[in-house]
Amino acid sequence: MKKNLLMWDESLFRDPEVFEIDYVPDQFEFRETQMRELAFQIRPGLRGSRPLNTICKGLPGTGKTTSIKKLFAEIEDNTIKLVPVYINCQIDNTKFAIFSQIYKKLSGHLPPASGTSFKQVLEAIANILLKEEIVLLVALDDANYLLYEDEINRVLYTLLRTHETYEGTRIGVIVIISDMDVDLSRAVDARVASVFRPTELYFPPYGNAEVREIIQERVIQGFFSGVISDELLDIVVEQTQKAGDIRIGIDLLKRAALSAERAARRHIDREDITGAYEASRFLHLAFTVKTLKGEERQILRSFAEISQKESEMNAGDLYKCINEKEEISYTRFYEIVKKMDAVRLINLHYREGKGRTRVITLRYEPAKILEYLG
Ligand SMILES: Nc1ncnc2c1ncn2[C@@H]1O[C@H](COP(=O)(O)OP(=O)(O)OP(=O)(O)O)[C@@H](O)[C@H]1O
Ligand SMILES: [Mg+2]
Repeated sequence: MKKNLLMWDESLFRDPEVFEIDYVPDQFEFRETQMRELAFQIRPGLRGSRPLNTICKGLPGTGKTTSIKKLFAEIEDNTIKLVPVYINCQIDNTKFAIFSQIYKKLSGHLPPASGTSFKQVLEAIANILLKEEIVLLVALDDANYLLYEDEINRVLYTLLRTHETYEGTRIGVIVIISDMDVDLSRAVDARVASVFRPTELYFPPYGNAEVREIIQERVIQGFFSGVISDELLDIVVEQTQKAGDIRIGIDLLKRAALSAERAARRHIDREDITGAYEASRFLHLAFTVKTLKGEERQILRSFAEISQKESEMNAGDLYKCINEKEEISYTRFYEIVKKMDAVRLINLHYREGKGRTRVITLRYEPAKILEYLG
């Protein structure tokens, strides 16, 4: 009895923070080129000029968000004249929500919840910028979420043309996109394109050796020594590469250590890793499903149910099926489909045949999707 009680207190974690999803690592290697280029783009902002606009593009887990957060922290340590605002477009995905966040960053509080027009918020932002001689730098992270319903154009248009209404305001934009199929220069309309003129910055996937070093660094910082053997670490690296996202490897380590702790072991076993991989593999699915709204969840549920019978669906038939259960316009339906494609829950492609058919396939097993929808 005494032994078991003691075990409860024993931890394999030296620093559990290191494995959290929003942890910004001190050690951040292999992205020097991108960080240097970003700094170059931002630098005019430190001298009171408009920063150059940038698109950061790369697959999930290639360090885009971390690079921006590190640079923004550095800007904040060094100046108050260039104010960086980080927007997570998964959460704030309308023009109003985004400008409310900008206002909050500048004034310390959100605009009143009701009765405030967009124009008032924008005007308040412009007034602060002009009065305090501040240059604004806005990062739109996971901007895929702004692609459907064309919100991206509304947001960029306002950000990049504010100086036409409020003379003297200076705003630079960094747009971050993790879907390699998205060509943002084609998604923006001409009125935006003429003022946007971004430099595109690519974040390539990490190679095997790089993944190993990153994972190893977390292990050293986060676990007590001897918690994981070199041999098992190789398996984690291999699984991480297979999943194509460092995040999955980091999550895998955390879950494997928790599983070992539960079994009151002082080190991770192979079975801890196999068990953990099942859960970590669905990290993106779990996370994305949580960001969906009522109607979107409903449609994803129907997709999953239908594709338990057929692996490939055509958009027209699917619409008919869904509309029978729940009335929805085709336009709205198709907007939701495009969103799910943008956030990597489904694949949407065209097939030439009798006319162009839109074909939808799920990126996860239907049963798993239903499980995460609850
Ligand atoms: N070079 C690196 N060194 C250490 N940790 C890293 C490195 N690159 C990425 N990571 C870690 O991997 C995880 C994912 O990184 P990050 O969030 O920056 O990726 P991302 O490119 O923004 O991905 P997504 O497109 O999915 O948002 C984070 O936990 C981050 O700490
Ligand atoms: Mg990111």
